Amino acid sequence: MRPRSAGALLATILLCAVSARAQDPSERSAGELMDVLMWNREPVGGPFALIDHHGKRRTEADFSGKFLLIYFGFTYCPDVCPTDLQAIGLALDQLGQAGEAVQPLFITLDPERDTPPHLAEYVSLFHPRLIGLSGDATAIRTVARQYKVYYAKVPTRDGLGYTLDHSGYIYLMDRVGRYLGFFPPGTPAERMADVIRPQLEQLQP
Ligand code: NI
Repeated sequence: MRPRSAGALLATILLCAVSARAQDPSERSAGELMDVLMWNREPVGGPFALIDHHGKRRTEADFSGKFLLIYFGFTYCPDVCPTDLQAIGLALDQLGQAGEAVQPLFITLDPERDTPPHLAEYVSLFHPRLIGLSGDATAIRTVARQYKVYYAKVPTRDGLGYTLDHSGYIYLMDRVGRYLGFFPPGTPAERMADVIRPQLEQLQP
């Protein structure tokens, strides 16, 4: 191969950088999104239109008056998602009757594979009140953006399938849909319950 000039090489690199960005210029890196969340740089949350695990259309308005505990993931996730979903289920149990004010939601980042019937089987493993939400790729992309969720498809090593890289924060929203904060992935159930409990005792705004 003939050595190319530095100028041509630079042009090629720039072109690659531009075309990689051009695919979806609004996508942000995991680090950038973490920075936004950590320092509350932008609002978190917002309206959504998704399909629940019974195949019913759901929007944020359906959950008005409830606190929401929202987790984004995918059912084929080998360990992080199940661990956190289990913690969410246990935390709700530990909150007892007060915990009924909290609606747990699992929003899939893999709508291609996580169809409503598939989600129905999955969510029942973690808590009887856990609602699984799916939708088309655009609807999922929109809600993920609102919650500053990072996710990206990664081909599996055998090249036959894919897995997802995703951020795993657990979001707590108040009764009127305002963002209160997030729990980091791996937060134990008891700690989650301890942090949520005083929030539930606050008077309705
Ligand atoms: Ni996961």
